[in-house]
Amino acid sequence: MAPLDNPFEAALSLVEDLRKETPLILLDFHAEATSEKIAMGRMLDGKVSAVVGTHTHVQTADEQIFPGGTAFICDVGFNGAHESVLGREIQPVIRRFIDYMPQRFPVAKNLWRLNGVVIEIDNDAGKSTSIERLSYPVENPDAAGSEPKKV
Ligand SMILES: [Fe+2]
Repeated sequence: MAPLDNPFEAALSLVEDLRKETPLILLDFHAEATSEKIAMGRMLDGKVSAVVGTHTHVQTADEQIFPGGTAFICDVGFNGAHESVLGREIQPVIRRFIDYMPQRFPVAKNLWRLNGVVIEIDNDAGKSTSIERLSYPVENPDAAGSEPKKV
């Protein structure tokens, strides 16, 4: 095995092994480029139940079921303060882009949102029948306790 396997070849190999045990496979593809995520989803269409992207923090609006029954979205988005730059306080990030100097990036506190998807999957076939994107405001858990509540 090479120190850095090609993620597409690795995914095909892992999925082939997993399908011997179950048709219910969800791939969380933690990657930057939408082209890579779409290519991975298309390559695995019909072989896995869902391919959902993470990492960019920005929820995309491309949720869909591919022809082979694989649910897909480029990025499910992040849970946390959205009056922010990807969950961090705004001004330090702006300063960093202007002066290139190291900055602390404290976690932002305002306008919390919960982002994600709900996917319905046929248990026997492992095919997805629907994918619904969720994004709604929640109370700041620091102010309300440990459980975010929908507002
Ligand atoms: Fe990441």
